[in-house]
Amino acid sequence: MKLILRRVSAVMLVTASMAFFGSAIAADVPSFAHGKKLFNDPALGGSTNSMSCNSCHPSGKGLEHAWKNPKLAETINVCITGQLTGKALPLDSMEMRSLVLYIRSLKSPVSGY
Ligand code: HEC
Repeated sequence: MKLILRRVSAVMLVTASMAFFGSAIAADVPSFAHGKKLFNDPALGGSTNSMSCNSCHPSGKGLEHAWKNPKLAETINVCITGQLTGKALPLDSMEMRSLVLYIRSLKSPVSGY
């Protein structure tokens, strides 16, 4: 019984530290997953209207060619400040780099590029 308890607490400790470090990593490193989350976040850029990127580009619809855009980050800011009535994100911020990662992943497989 004691052994089982010790095992259980060891597992809990490992799980808790994984959750802790996992969230620390997610907060600092740009990632596809974070980009996807922001894409669906109506509060992106401090936006106070109820729209998210996903409202007009559901699941990235219409953005299949955006990966070719050499000014992708600037274009994203145009939609943040215009459509979302939010504040532009710094181009090298973790949020912007995550959004760029997510949007680049929407690359259309039939585009031929
Ligand atoms: C109210 C609707 C609306 C919202 C909300 C919106 N967009 Fe757009 N977006 C458009 C329209 C319209 C265009 C220009 C037409 C097009 O290219 O589809 C566009 C164009 C773009 C483009 C350029 C596409 C290309 O091929 O280069 C990108 C990138 C983009 N949006 C990203 C975003 C992101 C990221 C968000 C969230 C911050 C967002 N949009 C929110 C309507 C919207």
